[in-house]
Amino acid sequence: MEILSIETSCDETAAAVIEDGKKIMANLVSSSRDLHDKTGGVIPEAAAREQVKCMIPIINQVQISLRQNSGQAMFKIQNVDAIAVTVGPGLIGSLLVGVETAKALSMVLNKPLIPVNHIFAHIYANFLNQSSNPQFPAIALVVSGGHTELFYMEDEKTLRWLGGTLDDAAGEAFDKTARLLGLGYPGGPAIATEAAKCKMQNARPPAWQAKCKIKLPRPMINSKDLSFSFSGLKTAVIREAGHLQEIKQLNNLTIAKLANEIQEAITDVLVKKTLDAVIKYKVKSILVGGGVAANKRLTEKFQSEIKQLKLGIKLYVPPPNLCTDNAAYIGSYAFFHNKPVHWAKIQAQPDLEVEV
Ligand code: KG4
Ligand code: ZN
Repeated sequence: MEILSIETSCDETAAAVIEDGKKIMANLVSSSRDLHDKTGGVIPEAAAREQVKCMIPIINQVQISLRQNSGQAMFKIQNVDAIAVTVGPGLIGSLLVGVETAKALSMVLNKPLIPVNHIFAHIYANFLNQSSNPQFPAIALVVSGGHTELFYMEDEKTLRWLGGTLDDAAGEAFDKTARLLGLGYPGGPAIATEAAKCKMQNARPPAWQAKCKIKLPRPMINSKDLSFSFSGLKTAVIREAGHLQEIKQLNNLTIAKLANEIQEAITDVLVKKTLDAVIKYKVKSILVGGGVAANKRLTEKFQSEIKQLKLGIKLYVPPPNLCTDNAAYIGSYAFFHNKPVHWAKIQAQPDLEVEV
């Protein structure tokens, strides 16, 4: 079964064709990131205006890419078996671009239309182009710009929400603290790059190390539930940066040190809570998805803790280009949750929930 999938929930305009939920036939993303880099965050109207310009050309590009790269020289969009589209959660203007395009295609081509929840769909990046399938039951962690959610997965189709953030999401914590440090947008990759410079600091004298000691909180790391909270990190970073400024030590080296500690704090909490869920629910795999899953330190920590605790489970993390927003995982989710709805009944749902 071939599905044409469309994703426009935030600042990306993306389209893909996925075969049987697993094989990527074509997958293209057009991002308006450069536009938002200047403002340090996404301006919803600017994003939607950009998406209006890119939507139809990117579907056309998917068609061309599929003809050129998949040996289907005669491929036409009308050959697909169904259309899938992200209906929420996300920015209303952005969602409308994708949803209304998908409805028009569904009506004109007379194809079933499958509405997709973007947050659940992130997990399905782990099924794409894989030689082996994840073993179930599993714990899934979705860490994106707006969400930090843990799910129990009985099998490929059944998801149960276990807990999530009470305030800011992990990606939001990266973005907000990066902005405070003047590191640009998106904050996650910017913080990771800065943190990597931290090695240079081992050469500094112990007196400097003591003076510039930076320790951030790990919010709710030992709470007994599966909730998260990241909003306090921003306040803690403001306090630390203020202290460094007072002692005239807010410079490139200490900014790298702060970035490193931000990355350590966020990843410590994500790994600890996920492994708490793994132990509680006795699962066989962990599936991570969402933009923050592209963070290498997060994967490193998961691997080392799984080994240290002798859990004997397998960790699945998609390649970086499938962690951040794209339409491929929308097509995969739609294959496993193939519940078409008539186009006239489909609407953009900016506040779509994940608690099921
Ligand atoms: O899933 P995504 O592309 O969009 C949403 O659905 O929100 O996630 C975007 C988030 C941003 O907060 C961004 O800073 C974060 O993912 N991100 C990262 C990395 N790459 C993207 N965070 C940490 N490390 C990264 N390498
Ligand atoms: Zn996303």
